[in-house]
Amino acid sequence: MKDDLINLKNQAIAEVSEVKDLAELEQIRIDLFGKSGKFTMASKEIVNIPVDDKKQYGIILNEVKSTLEGLLAEKKNELSNAARVWFDPTMPAKKSTLGKLHMVSIAINEIAEVFEKIGFTRMKYPEVEYDYFAFGALNFPENHPARDDWETFFVDSSVHSKYGPMLLTPHTSSGQIREMLSNKPPIRMINIAKCYRRQSDVSHVPMFHQFEGLVVDKDINITNLKGTLDHFAKTFFGPNRATRLRPYHFQFTEPSFEVDISCNVCNGKGCKLCKEGWLEIGGAGMVHPNVLKNCGVDPKVYSGFAFGWGVERTYMMKSGLSVPDIRLLYSSDLRVLKQL
Ligand code: DAH
Repeated sequence: MKDDLINLKNQAIAEVSEVKDLAELEQIRIDLFGKSGKFTMASKEIVNIPVDDKKQYGIILNEVKSTLEGLLAEKKNELSNAARVWFDPTMPAKKSTLGKLHMVSIAINEIAEVFEKIGFTRMKYPEVEYDYFAFGALNFPENHPARDDWETFFVDSSVHSKYGPMLLTPHTSSGQIREMLSNKPPIRMINIAKCYRRQSDVSHVPMFHQFEGLVVDKDINITNLKGTLDHFAKTFFGPNRATRLRPYHFQFTEPSFEVDISCNVCNGKGCKLCKEGWLEIGGAGMVHPNVLKNCGVDPKVYSGFAFGWGVERTYMMKSGLSVPDIRLLYSSDLRVLKQL
């Protein structure tokens, strides 16, 4: 009799493990515990068990009952959960929002691509720099106002014995010095990096980006500079655009220029947006002989040109985007960033 009970239990365990749905499971339950179920009948057998064996039979009955009830409950739970997580492939998908690059990253990629295609190599130089690379070697006099605390962020009070105080690069021109000290001409490099200045108003942010080009080789002259800038203007802004050089002054170039680009609204005729058909875009010039000398490049053998423009400004001129406050570009406000 005991063996019958054990067989009944093992058979039921095997059947339950094969069950596929709740109805099948219910049938097994009825076959075991229903009025004339196998377990019900087996439990009624207790009256026929000899007195000495009754107690042990009762213990086994209880054990089989609780095992089977537990098993049925567990399986029921499992089948009902499985029924709840059904997947309907015909349901319309949830709309996922796709992110995009920040306007400045797009601008940097596009600018880099134009110059890389004409043989410039994109370089990266420190954005935490010594005074010497940002000013001294670039021919800035000791008392130049850009070296003042009010223009430049100095990062600590320790001063390098040779290179002076440490600062956050106020322009990408420090990359010119780093480049010439680490590579011999011919040089064609583009340095696109963050710049930092103590400024914050609707048209200035304390952290912004510039791209700096430097070409040093034998026989480099203003024609090469003009040709390169024109190529950039036509590729980046469109084939009808042209550049113009206006005499200016920078410490590290001689001669120096401000570069203008022809206005696309009036096509150079003059309109409200521009100054007589031209929009100012950035600085450029022929590398000053003192700068070449400071980097161990002989100005009698080599000459070069350089240019440095703001990434944000250049890209906004291309896209026609006007932002009431340039600081919004870096505000991390999605309502703004989604529009850029
Ligand atoms: N570094 C200058 C600035 O931040 C821009 C500049 C002007 C860069 C003339 C140049 C250059 O390379 O030749 O205002």
